[in-house]
Amino acid sequence: MDYKNLLFELTDNIAKITINRPEKLNALNNETLVELNDLFDFLQETDTISVVIITGFGEKAFVAGADIKELSNLNGKSGVVFSLFGQSVFNKIENLNKPVIAAVNGFALGGGCELALACHIRYASENAKFGQPEVNLGIIPGYGGTQRLTRQIGKGRAIEYILSGDLIPAQEAFRIGLVNKVFTIEELLPKTIELAEKIITKGKNAIAKSLKSINAVDSLPLSEGLKFEALQFGNCCGSDEFIEGTSAFLEKRKANFER
Ligand code: COA
Repeated sequence: MDYKNLLFELTDNIAKITINRPEKLNALNNETLVELNDLFDFLQETDTISVVIITGFGEKAFVAGADIKELSNLNGKSGVVFSLFGQSVFNKIENLNKPVIAAVNGFALGGGCELALACHIRYASENAKFGQPEVNLGIIPGYGGTQRLTRQIGKGRAIEYILSGDLIPAQEAFRIGLVNKVFTIEELLPKTIELAEKIITKGKNAIAKSLKSINAVDSLPLSEGLKFEALQFGNCCGSDEFIEGTSAFLEKRKANFER
């Protein structure tokens, strides 16, 4: 996989994507978004990859936002197209049939915070800082921030952060449920890989159906969400994974799921 602004590594069913524009604090220009779009199509189709990790190059930034130089040329019409394209890429990440873990290694601002929010799990380093500072530029979050930040930390907190543009340090992000865990910068990637390695030992179908069912919470009322969960549950029952998982328990051995 040869990209200009992304590094891609594959080790034991775990893909690691590094946003690689350190001279611009890994800001997402259009070229980088197009590359991410292409890469997530590939990841969706590739059964031999079970978990995806996203991080930023260096120790200063995960992603410092959409590229403000490009953004400064937008008008009313092109702004909508810009926003919809970013949203569609991040929707692909959220709806991927395998887990995506953000290893947030520094600034995660604007589009960077939105990218982390589209991932299924967020691990952060102590120096990480989250935020939606778009009001400072006379715009609002356009890659899903008003929706996903609000769902993640609640309306009152999201309004305060989006209206003030204040940054959220890692420990505060942990306290309000924006990140799952905080580590030292040295520990961040090893701990993220440790989690990915745990997940790849589980049944792939069960992991995919768990994500699908949990994601439905954003679009379905509880009664419909429960029906949807029952359908995903039924889909797992009788599968090879189900036979292996339940047999392994009953035979008092460790399940060996196909990777
Ligand atoms: N888009 C384009 N370029 C960006 C960028 C962005 N979102 N964020 C940082 N950069 C560039 C800077 O312009 C600078 O480039 P230069 O060396 O060619 O001038 C380089 O990255 C380093 O950034 P700099 O601002 O010098 O680093 P800093 O340590 O002083 O400040 C930040 C770090 C993150 C506080 C600051 O870069 C910032 O506020 N960035 C914008 C954050 C933002 O508003 N994001 C939302 C965008 S919608």
